[in-house]
Amino acid sequence: MIEKIEQLLQEVEQLQASNADELEALRIKYLSKKGAINELMADFRNVPAEQKKEVGMRLNELKAKAQERIAALREQFATQDTGLDDLDLTRTAYPVGLGTRHPLSIVRSEIIDIFARMGFNIADGPEVEDDLHVYTKLNFAADHPARDMQDTFFVNVHPDDVTKNIILRSHTSSVQVRAMEHAQPPIRIICPGRVYRNEAISYRAHCFFHQVEGLYIDKGVSFTDLKQVLLLFAQEMFGSDTKIRLRPSYFPFTEPSAEMDISCNICGGKGCPFCKHTGWVEILGCGMVDPNVLDACGIDSKVYSGYALGMGIERITNLKYQVKDLRMFSENDTRFLREFEAAY
Ligand code: DAH
Repeated sequence: MIEKIEQLLQEVEQLQASNADELEALRIKYLSKKGAINELMADFRNVPAEQKKEVGMRLNELKAKAQERIAALREQFATQDTGLDDLDLTRTAYPVGLGTRHPLSIVRSEIIDIFARMGFNIADGPEVEDDLHVYTKLNFAADHPARDMQDTFFVNVHPDDVTKNIILRSHTSSVQVRAMEHAQPPIRIICPGRVYRNEAISYRAHCFFHQVEGLYIDKGVSFTDLKQVLLLFAQEMFGSDTKIRLRPSYFPFTEPSAEMDISCNICGGKGCPFCKHTGWVEILGCGMVDPNVLDACGIDSKVYSGYALGMGIERITNLKYQVKDLRMFSENDTRFLREFEAAY
C-alpha cells in the first residue's frame, strides 16, 4: 500500500497538462469518485491496524498534493485564458452613434453649390477685423450708427483714428473689400462666414450668426445681371415655382440698393404666420457696388461696375426647416441635430 502511495505521489508531482481538456482527464484519473486515490481509500479498511496511522497520513498527503497540483495547473490555464470561449460572435453589435452635419453647414454648402455652378469662387477673410475693412472702405460715414457700441464688439479702440479700431466683423461684406484690394476684375466671389453683433440673445437674435456675401465686378455689369442671379438662386434653393420681388432699400456700400423677398415657401404665397400673412419673406440685401467703394478698394469705378448681395444663413435655414428658436443652432442639443440626419 505504502509503495503504491509513493508511486502515485511521484506521478502526481510531475503531472503536466497542455490544455483544459487534458487537465480535466487528469482530475478524473486521480481525484474523481472512481479515481486512483479514492480506490486506495477504499482499500484502507484492509490495512492492518498497526499500519493504519501511517498509511492514513500518507494517503491524506497524497490527496492534498494531487489537489494542489491540479489547482496549480488550472491557474496556469486561467491566466492564459483568451476569453474567446465567452464571446458570443452572433450577437448584434452595439449601435455606434454617427455624427450628423449641422443644419447651418448643410444650408451653407447648398448656397455655395448653387453659386459655384454660376462661376463664383469662395473667398475668406478674418473674423477679427479692422474698422477700415468692415466700415470705412464700405462707405460708412464716420458717425454711422452701425459703428455704435450697441452693434459692434470692440477688441481694441483707437479714439484718435477710428479706422484703426480692431473689432469683430459685423458682416461678411468686409471680405469684399479684401478681395478687391488683392485682385483686379473680373471678380466673382462668395464669402460664407461667421459675424458678430452685440445683441441681447433671444429666440430671434444672437450675438453671432452666419452670412454669405456675393460680389461680381467686371466691365458692364448691370442690375439686370444681379436680378437674374437672384432669381436663379431663389429657384434653386426654394424650388422652381419660387417668385422674387425687389424692394428699394439703403446700404452705404450699394447704390441703388434693394432687399429681396421670395414668395413664402411655407404657405406657397397664400399667407401664413411665418410671412405675417403677406405671402412674401425677405431673404437678402443687395445692390450695385457704390463707386466710392470701388475707388476706395483700388478699382477704377469709371471702367468697372459690379453688384453685391448678402444673406443670413440662419434665415435661409429657418425658411427651409422652420427652426423657431435661433438659439437651437448653437446649443448642440443632439436631439435637435439628429433631426437633420436625413437632410443631405
Ligand atoms: N452687409 C449687410 C448686412 O449685414 C448685408 C448686405 C446687404 C450685403 C446688401 C450686401 C449688400 O453685399 O449688397 O446686413
